Amino acid sequence: MPEKLYAKISDGIREQIGQGLYHPGDRLPSVRHQCRQLGVSASTVLQAYGLLQDSRLIEARPKSGYFVSLPTQIPLPPAMSKPAPTPSKVTVSELVMEVVQAIEAPRMIQFGAALPNTSAPAIRRLHQMLAQAARNPRNRTTRYAFPPGDPKLRLQIARRAVDSGCALSPDNIVITNGCQEALVLCLRAVAQPGDTIAIESPSFYGVLQAIESLGMKALEIPTHPETGVSLEALQLAFEQWPVKACLLTPAYSNPLGYCMPDEKKEALIRLLEKYDLPLIEDDIYGELGYGPSRPRAIKSWDNDGRVLLCSSISKTLEPGLRVGWTSPGRYFRKIEHLKLVTSMATATLPQIAVADYLENGGYDRHLRTMRSQYRQNRDICIDLISRYFPEGTRITRPEGGFLAWVELPGKADAMKLYRLAMEQRISITPGPLFSAKQKYRNYIRINYAPAWSTEREQAIEKLGKLLIGTL
Ligand SMILES: Cc1ncc(COP(=O)(O)O)c(C=O)c1O
Repeated sequence: MPEKLYAKISDGIREQIGQGLYHPGDRLPSVRHQCRQLGVSASTVLQAYGLLQDSRLIEARPKSGYFVSLPTQIPLPPAMSKPAPTPSKVTVSELVMEVVQAIEAPRMIQFGAALPNTSAPAIRRLHQMLAQAARNPRNRTTRYAFPPGDPKLRLQIARRAVDSGCALSPDNIVITNGCQEALVLCLRAVAQPGDTIAIESPSFYGVLQAIESLGMKALEIPTHPETGVSLEALQLAFEQWPVKACLLTPAYSNPLGYCMPDEKKEALIRLLEKYDLPLIEDDIYGELGYGPSRPRAIKSWDNDGRVLLCSSISKTLEPGLRVGWTSPGRYFRKIEHLKLVTSMATATLPQIAVADYLENGGYDRHLRTMRSQYRQNRDICIDLISRYFPEGTRITRPEGGFLAWVELPGKADAMKLYRLAMEQRISITPGPLFSAKQKYRNYIRINYAPAWSTEREQAIEKLGKLLIGTL
């Protein structure tokens, strides 16, 4: 069904508010002005304003006109997490498979999967470069790009790493099938089945699944939603348990979105040195910070090659090309070999295209646009949750990335909400996916990367109603 004209106008105004053209409390153009400007009838403008009023984004003031609403009270972030204090086997795989497959269903309003906004012009440009790379006979794209992978791509990755304070050598980078493969190879390089890995809690379910499938154990460490894993708890864990390695996402973690302060990163690396432990650093969201400078990677303080830095283009460009990498320090030879025996190579053509794109595609401009869009989307997300979710709801306020972690009040059951929402074709990710033992039963993760539309906003309102119905 074609979108109604008034809904289109309402989406346009919503976007202008999101972009900061109108701030809370500002007066919007009068109905008469909009009629002239847009060439539509007064009733169409009134219907558009009506929609925005329904979603409480704007309000009518008698005899004065329409104004952008003042923000409602901002909910608090969740408190420090309190995971189980002992290492445990992970049991999330079945649940993850169910949720991941359901999220992929057609005509779904997506808040579930951690996908970036792939409607950005940069993606078209990247695809053009992919086509060009395929047509260029010199590229020899039909060949294997054996480990460590395409040299031009490794050079581009090393150049970009300067922004995160790292002096990486292209010769210490291995290209992988996304960041997930990088994480798995790194886990295999530093630990054996039965070994214990210290991780932040809540933690990305891909990490939990990797630990599960490798027969390792997860030791979940209490984590603050703004500053990350507790170093005191980590030290205690190193003293109490035979921890073999740490795996953390210090820049805009999934799902908490925390960014570890620099002093803490430095203290962490000293702690790792003291206990002689390696760190697998997942930096996949590192380029998506909203602030003026990119966070430094912990790897930049690494003096002796104990940090295995992992990342990919899945969150900044697109996940479908499966281009990721690791710079694994002293574990390079082992990783290179593991990569060869695991998947032989990463597809050649995407590596060449991504290398071209990083060199000449306008990647920095693209990142600037995405960061600013995601920041605006975050503010709208927090505002909508605070309007439509019941009292007692808490939500994180990430300074980067595009994921919000929402604590539901009281006895709310995220799995129940997830199933009810799926019936309405709304996807969310339920909290139990993010812990080894399916804790976080009253949490959900929301992806706010796509542009807000009337449909997405109404879906949040519906989620709020479904949640209230379950309490
Ligand atoms: C923190 C984190 N690490 C790794 C991955 C996997 O990334 P990729 O798609 O590049 O394998 C994800 C994807 O959601 C993620 O959020």
